[in-house]
Amino acid sequence: MSLNQLVYISQATRKMSKEELLDLLAQAKANNARIDVTGSLFYNGGWFMQVLEGPEATLAKLVARIENDPRHQDFRLLYNEPAKFRTFVRWSMNMTNLEDRQTDKYDELVDVIEAAKTDRKIGTLSPAVTLLRLFSH
Ligand SMILES: Cc1cc2nc3c(=O)[nH]c(=O)nc-3n(C[C@H](O)[C@H](O)[C@H](O)COP(=O)(O)O)c2cc1C
Repeated sequence: MSLNQLVYISQATRKMSKEELLDLLAQAKANNARIDVTGSLFYNGGWFMQVLEGPEATLAKLVARIENDPRHQDFRLLYNEPAKFRTFVRWSMNMTNLEDRQTDKYDELVDVIEAAKTDRKIGTLSPAVTLLRLFSH
């Protein structure tokens, strides 16, 4: 089955508490594990950026559901391309709350989200490609 990687950015409808973020993560993990989707969710200053990986048709259905979630708005699809490998093999969903500053990629991730907000490239690369490269080895 064809593998796709998809990246979007969106704005939280209102500030998310730690508990609300953990609930969202638990829901995403449980669902994604069932449908063979992996990925990672980043949150900073009221913005979400998410990578989703899985079969193209599955992702299309999932993203249609996520897009309509009242917890966020201004959903903007940045990237949706075939991929040879998954970048987040180990995670049905992982979450990085940048407000905790618990990541060694903090500066790079803040820059990726800032660039995506304003549609700015990072060097020659789009923010979505930069994000995927930060985690691929
Ligand atoms: C920023 C954000 C990211 C989400 N990511 C996922 C996800 O990766 N997988 C998922 O199933 N639901 C995700 N959701 C939740 C879906 O919008 C929806 O609430 C959920 O899939 C419904 O699940 P249920 O049928 O178990 O109630 C996300 C919601 C938001 C706001």
